[in-house]
Amino acid sequence: MIADQARMDPYAVALKAVINPDSVVLDIGAATGIHALLACKFGARKVFAVEGSEAIHLARDLARENGFEDRIQFFQDLSTNITLPEPADVIVSDLRGVLPPFDNHIPSIIDARTRHLGPDGRLIPKSDTLWAALVSAPFLYKELLKPWDSPYGLKMKAAKEITLNGWSADNTDLLTSRNLLVEPQIWFELDYSAVKSPHLDRVDIRYRAESPSFFSNVQPKGVRSNDCRSGTHGSIRCCSEGCD
Ligand SMILES: C[S@@+](CC[C@H](N)C(=O)[O-])C[C@H]1O[C@@H](n2cnc3c(N)ncnc32)[C@H](O)[C@@H]1O
Repeated sequence: MIADQARMDPYAVALKAVINPDSVVLDIGAATGIHALLACKFGARKVFAVEGSEAIHLARDLARENGFEDRIQFFQDLSTNITLPEPADVIVSDLRGVLPPFDNHIPSIIDARTRHLGPDGRLIPKSDTLWAALVSAPFLYKELLKPWDSPYGLKMKAAKEITLNGWSADNTDLLTSRNLLVEPQIWFELDYSAVKSPHLDRVDIRYRAESPSFFSNVQPKGVRSNDCRSGTHGSIRCCSEGCD
């Protein structure tokens, strides 16, 4: 996750923009403590790093390694269980999971906003925009259904149904604009300073399929095997023009 520059850079930029020498920062779901470390690097006076899992021990070691141990106070607990010694000016988190409304993300943000954030405090992220699009990606489809392909001759229809109607982020980084069947549309705007419930209002998004031949032509064709780097993504083979 730390190597994911598209995710990390905006966090670093946002933290740098709001932190001053008087700032108190709360890092919720600190894990390795990357946001807490950045907050110290950008000059925060005090940082609270809260993490429910054992990863907090690594965060402590990294704080020591960077000379920030005096400014970071660690809590191995959920943010919803703790009371801070002082309110935070900045709360930073990435608890989104597969999608922002999932898990306990939104209830944790609502609780943090209500109990841990001081007056005029800032939330990072401030908002999320969820986009939706139809894609054609036979390589993802095959990969998702592979575990249910009659293992040991057993029938797995019920499990297939769940997989086909569920959510997965596995290998979605392999999708490119070539996989899109339609223009992406905004599905939801989540404003973390105002959101009141993890249950998003129903939104209808309409798509129109133009023609069957359009669908059969969207996959890359004529890719030579020597263009491919194989094995990088499990059994999915990716070539210069896409994955198959
Ligand atoms: C996706 S990781 C993010 C790690 C790190 N902040 C980063 O951005 O690289 C989310 C972490 O949040 C922790 N977590 C989720 N909800 C939490 C909560 N309410 N309080 C404390 N930790 C939480 C999980 O244990 C997990 O380690």
